[in-house]
Amino acid sequence: MSAGLVQAAYVVAAVLFIMSLAGLSKQDSARFGNYYGIAGMAIALIATIFGPHSAGITWIILAMIIGGAIGIYLARKVEMTEMPELVAILHSFVGMAAVLVGYNSYIDHGVLTGALLNIHLVEVFLGVFIGAVTFSGSIVAFCKLRGLVSTSALNIPHKHKWNLLAIVVSVLLMIYFVNNNGSMFALLVMTAIALVFGYHLVSSIGGADMPVVVSMLNSYSGWAAAAAGFMLANDLLIVTGALVGSSGAILSYIMCKAMNRSFISVIAGGFGNAPTTASTGDEEQGEHRETTAEEVAEMLKDSKSVIITPGYGMAVAQAQYPVHEITEKLRAQGVDVRFGIHPVAGRLPGHMNVLLAEAKVPYDIVLEMDEINDDFTTTDTVLVIGANDTVNPAALEDPNSPIAGMPVLEVWNAKNVIVFKRSMNTGYAGVQNPLFFKENTQMLFGDAKASVDAISKAL
Ligand code: TAP
Repeated sequence: MSAGLVQAAYVVAAVLFIMSLAGLSKQDSARFGNYYGIAGMAIALIATIFGPHSAGITWIILAMIIGGAIGIYLARKVEMTEMPELVAILHSFVGMAAVLVGYNSYIDHGVLTGALLNIHLVEVFLGVFIGAVTFSGSIVAFCKLRGLVSTSALNIPHKHKWNLLAIVVSVLLMIYFVNNNGSMFALLVMTAIALVFGYHLVSSIGGADMPVVVSMLNSYSGWAAAAAGFMLANDLLIVTGALVGSSGAILSYIMCKAMNRSFISVIAGGFGNAPTTASTGDEEQGEHRETTAEEVAEMLKDSKSVIITPGYGMAVAQAQYPVHEITEKLRAQGVDVRFGIHPVAGRLPGHMNVLLAEAKVPYDIVLEMDEINDDFTTTDTVLVIGANDTVNPAALEDPNSPIAGMPVLEVWNAKNVIVFKRSMNTGYAGVQNPLFFKENTQMLFGDAKASVDAISKAL
């Protein structure tokens, strides 16, 4: 394939990637967004593999077959609830790739001299730095999401000063690296610092704030890919990396707004560690009342308006299908049923929207938190299905809570609240929920799918 044709294919692929992002931003166009992305990636791969700068095509194809087989196997096997972990580990691969590309183009930089060599060395240094931070940070995120390490924030003394020191030393090493026409020693020391820096950055962030970490690492992986694009002089990789990097940054910003956190402090890895006191632990805070599926069915029949606020437990139980069933039954009886979706409900952005769309719940009754929060006061019954942190009043009422300041669905303002869960255990943030002990709240214990099925039967 000629160089001109490859460039033309890259332009087409870049446009398809932009169309893919546009498509993915809305539920009804998301499927086409995926198709555009697949088409763009197929064109990009074919143009790169068969382009004039490729050698060892057999090896490339062999690697793609092995990598593709592992990818297909993992994607088919992974549960929806494990998706964030998969995303985190995939980000670590991007980071690792950027580090390897960096070392490769450092060792084999051709015949560059003077200013061109200096520019190349800066590219190598930054690429390896971003890649190493992404790699170790993503591994920590993976371990936290999978529950292999504690989700609470690591709080070493003077943590911000350590972070700053890591950056300052890395900048000095970069100057040394460039002035010495590329010193392997400086590159190796910086790689070690960047790995520890990435580890510390993500370890410092507590459980409830993990959504921002995932989207932040998404952004970092994009910049790592863009850096690799500079090193390989591959325009499409630069464009794609920049698209991923900036869309990840926008997503992080949206997440920060949803969680009422400062964007700058996230990038500095310093939040999610608000002081905790005994009142924010997991001890129970009073008496709770229990109810049965039959009683809930009666209550629903007597209600004029119902809001369902799903959370991670609905995903675990795969309760979205019976939830759709009771929604249809109630709507058929003239009950106004709507859904209230918290921006970080579940374990990945848009988690609940995907599940509800899968169960064919109409989009127009699925509302964002901001759109529905004022309506709880005029609502008869709220069904909290497997949600916990996202409906926790402590976020608004207890300034010492680890989730203090995070906007939540104010379900307790409704006449009746039914909480579906299996026990009095806490949610992801490990914080007890005062909602469970309010007078208008009743607990329906059991697996969410079984409970909703039983209500559907009783209806
Ligand atoms: P959580 O606070 O995680 O609570 C989920 C609840 O579901 C638990 O209290 C659990 O109680 C219940 N549950 C689990 N399996 C169940 C089952 N089979 N049947 C019935 N109930 C079940 O959920 P949330 O309100 O959606 O909040 C999400 C949390 O995850 C937030 O802290 C958020 O910051 C964090 N997070 C979010 C993301 C994104 S991007 N969305 C990413 C990482 C972390 P039992 O064990 O008693 O049943």
